Amino acid sequence: MTTQDKDRVLIFDTTLRDGEQSPGATMTHEEKLEIAELLDEMGVDIIEAGFPIASEGDFRAVSEIAKRSKDAVICGLARAQLPDIDRCWEAVKHANRPRIHTFIGTSPLHRAIPNLTMDEMAERIEQTVTHARNLCDNVQWSPMDATRTEWDYLCRVVEIAINAGATTINIPDTVGYTAPVESADLIRRLIETVPGADEVVFATHCHNDLGMATANALAAVAGGARQIECTINGLGERAGNTALEEVVMALKVRGDIMPYYTEIDTKKIMHISRRVSTVSGFPVQFNKAIVGKNAFAHESGIHQDGMLKNAETFEIMRPEDVGLSGTSLPLGKHSGRAALRAKLRELGVEVGDNQLKDIFVRFKDLADRKKEVYDDDILALVTATTDGPQNRLELVNLKVICGTGGPATAELEMEIDGVEKAATCQGDGPVDATFKAVRDLHPNKARLQLYQVNAVTEGTDAQATVSVRLEEDGIIATGQSADTDTVVASARAYINALNRLLVRRDKTGKDVKEISYKDVH
Ligand code: KIV
Ligand code: ZN
Repeated sequence: MTTQDKDRVLIFDTTLRDGEQSPGATMTHEEKLEIAELLDEMGVDIIEAGFPIASEGDFRAVSEIAKRSKDAVICGLARAQLPDIDRCWEAVKHANRPRIHTFIGTSPLHRAIPNLTMDEMAERIEQTVTHARNLCDNVQWSPMDATRTEWDYLCRVVEIAINAGATTINIPDTVGYTAPVESADLIRRLIETVPGADEVVFATHCHNDLGMATANALAAVAGGARQIECTINGLGERAGNTALEEVVMALKVRGDIMPYYTEIDTKKIMHISRRVSTVSGFPVQFNKAIVGKNAFAHESGIHQDGMLKNAETFEIMRPEDVGLSGTSLPLGKHSGRAALRAKLRELGVEVGDNQLKDIFVRFKDLADRKKEVYDDDILALVTATTDGPQNRLELVNLKVICGTGGPATAELEMEIDGVEKAATCQGDGPVDATFKAVRDLHPNKARLQLYQVNAVTEGTDAQATVSVRLEEDGIIATGQSADTDTVVASARAYINALNRLLVRRDKTGKDVKEISYKDVH
């Protein structure tokens, strides 16, 4: 073990790499910078910011995140190839604390892809880790698909990586195959068996294919791992990765049986969860542990009665611990800017003066239409005012006629590149008519992949948050918006997604992934 406190568990967030790799979760450059800043502020120890050789866009994002980083180590991913490692170093070297993370698939199935013998692969590991270590004194090495790699070979390659200078050894359960007992045992045996293992940090990287990613990561910690790799909301390919909020809160709440700690400011969890959901376009399921809409909701009579008498009857953690305001006193139309700022702070959201001004204007508008503005409404307003790219398409006016009498009609006015245009279209319901009118004014081939509406709070005057995901020529973009009028929110979300597509198309080949780490070994 290094000088790290023996009970401290490092949190390695890979939302921007493994999470963003999930089909459809692509984020814009600005969104990546924003999420990285939030991760740094919340106390994440290591941010895996991307895979620099994958595309120009990834390289730019990792470099910029590295330049802007404060306390977190900034890490980039590289395959076991010298040009990958060089490119990774070019991007992360700007960070106060850079790290190169290099990996190769070591299981029989993965070895077959580059068609390397065991000896050839061992040699490649030696060469690439040594190269990385000559560039950077903080090097992480991963045997991809470690949990399906032969035990003797795993020990052999881990030892080679340690001798070549790796400072962190990550043991990935790439396909979510392991189970808690095995996960703990694997790390424990590696630490006991491999010479030099006590000189490095062991990390665990679990995928959730069998729904055991959180349990497996915590078990690995019991076995001796001191770095958990995870993503916000468990974002990631297939069933996703270990969810950051779950492991962090599990360690906090069950310190009695898991005597380890992290340095995460848990009050910032809710805000970052919502931002990641918004920018990735992946909604959080209602009953998701810690960050789901219902995670702290107590509907049944027995539960509500118990909660009123003593919150601990049914709550093992307080909503405010994860950044939900405990009192949840709604704001109203007489609340001023100071009250709004105080509420935002309570919710773990720090905004600059200009953004506060924008949120305040929207808040006043909402408070005029809605008697009580709840925490969730405020967070939805933050989302709606954090829109990155400069918009070429703007909604000016929308009037919809719908009901039982016939097809719905949408009269739409939009500003396109500064010019106002109007269209009237009929459709199968108000949303269909509105989207047709948008397409009439801005013809496009984008395919609707997702259209989703959620009520932010209770009541018929609740705001609706709408997510729209579009795909055009392999480029995917997601737009979101919130409004008490569902059709207006839908129109804005659709236009928002189109604006993002325009930005991505303008720099074709830059923000779009060109290769994935699975393509070449
Ligand atoms: O799941 C995996 O094996 C990975 C590696 C690149 C660490 O994400
Ligand atoms: Zn992974």
